[in-house]
Amino acid sequence: MSENVLVLGNPQVKKILAGRENEVIGIIRRAYLLHHEGQSSLPHSVFLRFPGNDTDRIIGLPAYLGGEYGVAGMKWVSSFPGNIRKGVERASAAVFLNDMATGRVRAILEGSLISAQRTAASAALAGKCLHGNADETAVGLVGCGAINGQILRFLRAVFPKLEKAYLYDLSDERMDRFVANNPYEGLRYEKCDGLESLFAAAKLVAFATTAGTPYVHHLDALTPEHTVLGISLRDIDPAIIEMSHNIVDDLEHVCREKTSIHLTYQKVGNTDFVAGNIADAVKGTVPPRAAGKPSVYSPFGLGVLDVALAQYVYERAMAEGVGTVIENFQP
Ligand SMILES: NC(=O)c1ccc[n+]([C@@H]2O[C@H](COP(=O)([O-])OP(=O)(O)OC[C@H]3O[C@@H](n4cnc5c(N)ncnc54)[C@H](O)[C@@H]3O)[C@@H](O)[C@H]2O)c1
Repeated sequence: MSENVLVLGNPQVKKILAGRENEVIGIIRRAYLLHHEGQSSLPHSVFLRFPGNDTDRIIGLPAYLGGEYGVAGMKWVSSFPGNIRKGVERASAAVFLNDMATGRVRAILEGSLISAQRTAASAALAGKCLHGNADETAVGLVGCGAINGQILRFLRAVFPKLEKAYLYDLSDERMDRFVANNPYEGLRYEKCDGLESLFAAAKLVAFATTAGTPYVHHLDALTPEHTVLGISLRDIDPAIIEMSHNIVDDLEHVCREKTSIHLTYQKVGNTDFVAGNIADAVKGTVPPRAAGKPSVYSPFGLGVLDVALAQYVYERAMAEGVGTVIENFQP
């Protein structure tokens, strides 16, 4: 029995994950399949909010994933949007991994990159599965922050012909910074002045904003050829969700906390507007598209993905002798 705990900081996690986009997508795909086969335990995430403060929050996502993973743990992720003004990332996180034999914590990993990459891998998996055009050359990115930065990286892994990224953000400066921070050979950027022009230019669109309530009420440029990766979950009006082909990660999880899926459920009184989940779409038991409708993916973000990816990073770190071992951490 070990009294030690392995601690991995951001540079170490970053190094281990560098250039492994396709492998990470495979881990996330497998985690969804196991979860939907019932080989997981996934309580609802806990939202810690603060009196008189509508913007900041810390979320706890406990999870167990079985199968070949056999891992339990929790992501503890905070969102403090005011950080951006201080030149610090909005989100920060730690992932705790527990030993399944003793229940003891065996590793603590910096979690913001794990969180961002599992989110981006989920978006790319859905993009690959739902989008009708595997030779897609253009993507639209609404919200130019850390998450869409990773989503672009992962979409390039599944859509190798991407050569143009159309950007829209409320902040011009954020768009400029995004271009500067995400240089890719053979990829050109164009800033859009609104969502209509972005949707007119790109059929594959990822939302990763910090909007708390829907602001996309009507979109003339939205067509049945569009695939919308609604990662930030609260951008799109129920009227648009209702007329779309909706795929979620887990209906029970995503149909809460005032997501667009939740608001649509409250409006229509049932969840018949949801076609199925990503595991079924991956297996082909739910169609990726429906005639005359855009496909919209709404992933709540499941803790099973965080512990699956953290476990992968932990195992690689152990094999390579990377990280700081805190000896005698345990009683
Ligand atoms: N579903 C999931 O699994 C999952 C996982 C991680 C993060 N997220 C969500 O992704 C979102 C983005 O995260 P991030 O770390 O990139 O945030 P960030 O703060 O780094 O960037 C968000 C960007 O969105 C822009 N923005 C806000 N409202 C907008 C609007 N109405 N139109 C256009 N742009 C707008 C902001 O100016 C900012 O540049 C957050 O809402 C976060 O909660 C979802």
